[in-house]
Amino acid sequence: MLSEKSRPVIEATLPVIAERINFITPEFYKRMFAARPDLMDGMFSRSSQLEGTQPRALAGSIAVFASWLVENPNSYPDEVLSRVAHKHASLGLKEEEYPTVYKYLFEAIAADLGDACTAEVAEAWTEVYWLMADALIKLEKGLYAQQANDVMQSEFKLVKRVESGEGVIDVTFEPADDTPMTDAVAGQYISIIAKAKDGLRQPRQFTLLPSEKNQRRVAIKLDPEGEMTEILHGLKEGDTVEISNPYGDVTLGAFGDDESAPLYLFSAGIGVTPMLAFVSELAEKGSEREVVAVHGDRSNDSWPLKDDYKAAVEKLKNGKLITFLGEEGQGDFFGRVDVAKIDVPSNASVYLCGPLPFMQDVRSALVEAGVPGKQIQYEIFGPDQWMLHDQARAS
Ligand code: FAD
Ligand code: HEM
Repeated sequence: MLSEKSRPVIEATLPVIAERINFITPEFYKRMFAARPDLMDGMFSRSSQLEGTQPRALAGSIAVFASWLVENPNSYPDEVLSRVAHKHASLGLKEEEYPTVYKYLFEAIAADLGDACTAEVAEAWTEVYWLMADALIKLEKGLYAQQANDVMQSEFKLVKRVESGEGVIDVTFEPADDTPMTDAVAGQYISIIAKAKDGLRQPRQFTLLPSEKNQRRVAIKLDPEGEMTEILHGLKEGDTVEISNPYGDVTLGAFGDDESAPLYLFSAGIGVTPMLAFVSELAEKGSEREVVAVHGDRSNDSWPLKDDYKAAVEKLKNGKLITFLGEEGQGDFFGRVDVAKIDVPSNASVYLCGPLPFMQDVRSALVEAGVPGKQIQYEIFGPDQWMLHDQARAS
């Protein structure tokens, strides 16, 4: 709970911190990685740093958290915290590291604000930092306690590799040692850690696909500008990588999902991965839920996991697939996903996954059509800057 003493200070300094945070965070990371280069080995993504998405996400989350506390001093923005805690846990983040971030973040704040960073200001923001950190630490400990093992990552061996859609591989791993595996829930992801070209261990997250219990299966889309998907595409059967336990809170029944409401799944491109997991889980359970799977892609050839997805939707008792494809005559509709062409009831529970502009368009159209924003969940294949800028989850 934010103290009465700090609340007016946070309120008064939020605009200046919000304005300066994009200058403060690069400085913070520069200082932290100079002192702790080991944090780049197996934990932080070098590309997210270079691209600037992760610094913006972290900085934005602190500002969102502070504004939340000013408005609601007695509660926390649970969805923001949950997403971050799951991501942290997939990277094996430990409680001991929180003072590290605190030290370098607050050094950077002091350096940037100069005289404006009075003792009172520093104290109030310190309180916000530790409220957030303590909430995250508690969630992360809870997540670790649910695992079938007490390790952060273990070795897995590639046992199957097939091409699926343009530039996408569908790969299956099995444990290379006897570490027990945690059962995953549909929609969850794992962090896969492999060595970059210079030997630095780099993690990336991938959504789990339906597989045998003793396997981890994912589809990996090659990012021609990226660092690790090229390496992962180069893996051969028998090669090993490190894999985390499964994490992620974008699952059926979570947050705004009323399991008795019709389920609408909107995906584009590789965003089909969580949808395939959902549909397969529902089909396996013999669910009678009404499910409408809407997928957009450039063409039938580019659509990853097309056959698996079609087969999974067909297995549903009340499932329907609607496609929007960029080649005339191939899908139910030609062109980009257009919500106006589908009748989405206002009580629908909706999940989105795909490129950010796709999710923003679909979400806006759905809200316009009368679906409340809180019934719309989404998975972002990168640091989440959307929740922070669009306040997507709040409305
Ligand atoms: P990165 O190296 O991470 O690069 C990403 C982007 O950063 C590049 O496109 C480029 O624009 C930029 N960049 C890279 N290097 C630089 C540089 N030097 N300077 C400036 N910019 C740079 N992907 C899947 O394929 N399938 C999935 O099922 C899947 N599920 C995911 C689930 C979650 C929860 C999350 C968070 C992500 C998921 N992803 C998934 C995305 C995946 O984790 C990777 O982000 C993606 O595959 C790109 O990895 P990469 O290493 O090739 O690219
Ligand atoms: C990711 C916030 C502490 C390491 C993130 C993200 C946020 C965030 C918002 C992006 C999540 C997403 O949408 O994907 C915070 C806050 C902290 C904190 C508010 C303190 C109160 C830490 C600490 C460490 C850490 C102590 C480790 C030293 C990471 C890493 C990622 C991450 C490695 C993934 C980034 C990447 O892909 O490179 N954090 N974090 N965080 N955080 Fe934290």
